[in-house]
Amino acid sequence: MRILVLNGVNLNVLGRRDPDVYGGLSLGELESRVYQWARDHNSSAQCKQTNSEGEFVDWIHEALDWADGVIVNPGAWTHYSYAIRDALELFNAPIVEVHLSNVDEREEWRRKSVISDLAAHRIVGKGADGYKEAIEWLSQHE
Ligand code: DQA
Repeated sequence: MRILVLNGVNLNVLGRRDPDVYGGLSLGELESRVYQWARDHNSSAQCKQTNSEGEFVDWIHEALDWADGVIVNPGAWTHYSYAIRDALELFNAPIVEVHLSNVDEREEWRRKSVISDLAAHRIVGKGADGYKEAIEWLSQHE
């Protein structure tokens, strides 16, 4: 299974953000784990991160032709980006929405996700292990 793992705005500074909320791993460390977890499930992952919404949308469009599943953590875009929502809506492959923190129990504005109804599965508040669970979920729902 070919899995696209997309991390959005401000996730490049993981490790510097509040570790009590987001965990202590850097993005590079998180992505190394993701690559290993994908291999453990006979899958391949392609991890990407950007702070540019347009680039994020472009990568979703490119993946329409090859990805068998998508793991997406758009960061703050989750809460308001209809552009990302519209792009994700094009996917026939399953989408798993992941958040390191438990967005459902944080500030009011974080409780709204404009993509959650497009996601086949949603994992919040499990830190880096949420990505592992997402890979496991996708490999069980091929
Ligand atoms: C986040 C939660 C968002 O509210 C926040 O803006 C992020 C990260 C998470 O992974 O917990 O940047 O998506």
